[in-house]
Amino acid sequence: MRDVAVVGIGLNDFGELWEKSLRSIWAESALAALADAGVDSVDLITIGSMSPGLFVGQEHLASLLADELGMAGVPASRVESACASGGLALRTGFAEVASGLSDTVLVTGVEKMTDVDGADATFALGTAADQEWEGFHGITFPGLYAMLAQIHMQRYGTTSEQLAAVAVKNHANGLLNPHAQYHLKVSVEDVLASTMVADPLHLLDCSPVTDGAAAMVLTTVERAKELAGDKPVVKITGSGLATDTITLANREDLSELRAVRLAAERAFKMADKKPEDLHVVEVHDCFTIAEIMATEAIGLFDPGFGASAVEDGLTSLQGKIPVNTSGGLKSKGHPVGASGVAQAIEIVSQLRGEAGQRQVEGAKIGLAQNMGGSGGSSIVHIMEVE
Ligand code: COA
Repeated sequence: MRDVAVVGIGLNDFGELWEKSLRSIWAESALAALADAGVDSVDLITIGSMSPGLFVGQEHLASLLADELGMAGVPASRVESACASGGLALRTGFAEVASGLSDTVLVTGVEKMTDVDGADATFALGTAADQEWEGFHGITFPGLYAMLAQIHMQRYGTTSEQLAAVAVKNHANGLLNPHAQYHLKVSVEDVLASTMVADPLHLLDCSPVTDGAAAMVLTTVERAKELAGDKPVVKITGSGLATDTITLANREDLSELRAVRLAAERAFKMADKKPEDLHVVEVHDCFTIAEIMATEAIGLFDPGFGASAVEDGLTSLQGKIPVNTSGGLKSKGHPVGASGVAQAIEIVSQLRGEAGQRQVEGAKIGLAQNMGGSGGSSIVHIMEVE
C-alpha cells in the first residue's frame, strides 16, 4: 500500500441555506479544497450523499456534480452508508490512492436537507433504519437513540445531566467555529428545559437538520510534500470500516456500539496506534448519547465511564482528550452525507495547527469516527502529521 496524505480541505458554512442549491454548496466546498491543494485536476471524484433523491429529488449525483465542476469525463462515483456516507467517501478515496488505482482524488460529501419540511426530512432519515422491523412501526431516529440512552442509563447509571453536558460542551466549541450552524451557548438547565423529543432526549440533545458540503483532496505523501509548501503534511495512517445489524432488536448488547468498536480496532491496527496515543477526536454525536457511547467504543474510556468523563471535563477543549472540537454534529450541524468528511477536515485543521481559537496545542495524532443510522455502520480514520 502507498502512504496517503490529505493535501487540500474545503468546507462551506453549514445551516439552512435556502438561497443555494445542492450543486452550488457542493461546488463551493470542492473548489475550496482544490484551491487549498493547489491542483486543478483529479483522477477520481467520490461523493458521499445519503438521500439526495428524497431531499431534493436528484439522483445520478456523480455525473451531475463532476459536470458542475467542469470535469465531465473524469471518473466519479457516489457512495452511500446513511449518515456515514461521507466517511465511506473518504475511505474510498484512501483505498484508491493507497492501491495505486488513482494518484489524486477529490473526496466530498453533501446533503441539502432543509428544502423539505420536518416530516419529510424525518421520513428520509428514517429510511436508514430497518423499514420492516423499525420504520413500519413508526420509530424515528430520536426514538432509536432514546432506547440506546435508556439502556445506558439502566446499566451504568448515566443521567440526563450527563447527556446534557455533551450538548453544553459541543455548543461551547461550536461558538468558536465560524462554519457552525448554531452559535449558541447553552447550559445543562437549558438542555433539560428544551422540548422533550423522545425520552430522555430533549431537542438540545439532538443534532439539527442541516444543509452542507465538505471536500478534501487526497494524494500520495510524495506528491503532497511537493504541493504542501510550508504546510504540515497530514497522513491518513488508519482506516476501519464495520457493520452491525441495523435493527436494534437483533443486537446482542444495546449498551455498546459494536460497529464503532470494530471499525476503531481495525483503524488502530492499521495505524499501529492505541487510544492513549490520540490528541484530538471527532465522534458522531448525532444525539448526545451517541458521543458517550462512541468514546467508550473507541476505547477512550471504559464502558460506563464515557458519561462521567464529559461531566468531569476530560473531553472539553482544555481536557485530557478533546472530543468534537468543531462543535460536533450537535452544534456545527449534521448534513448527513457531508458530516464524515467535515469531521476529518476538523482533524486535518487541528493537525495543521489551523483551528484558530479551538486549536488543541501540540495535536499530532487525531481520529474521526462517522456512523450510519443507529450504529448499523461505522467508519474510523486515524490521521497523523508527517
Ligand atoms: N439543536 C438546536 N436547536 C435546534 C435544533 C437542534 N437539534 N433543532 C431545531 N432547533 C431550533 C431551530 O433553529 C428553531 O429555532 P428558532 O425558533 O429560534 O428559529 C427551533 O429549534 C425549532 O426548530 P424546528 O425546525 O421547528 O424544530 P423541529 O421540532 O422541527 O425539529 C428536531 C427538531 C430535534 C426534531 C430535529 O432537529 C431533528 O429531527 N433532529 C434529528 C436529526 C436526525 O435524526 N439526524 C440523523 C441522526 S442519525
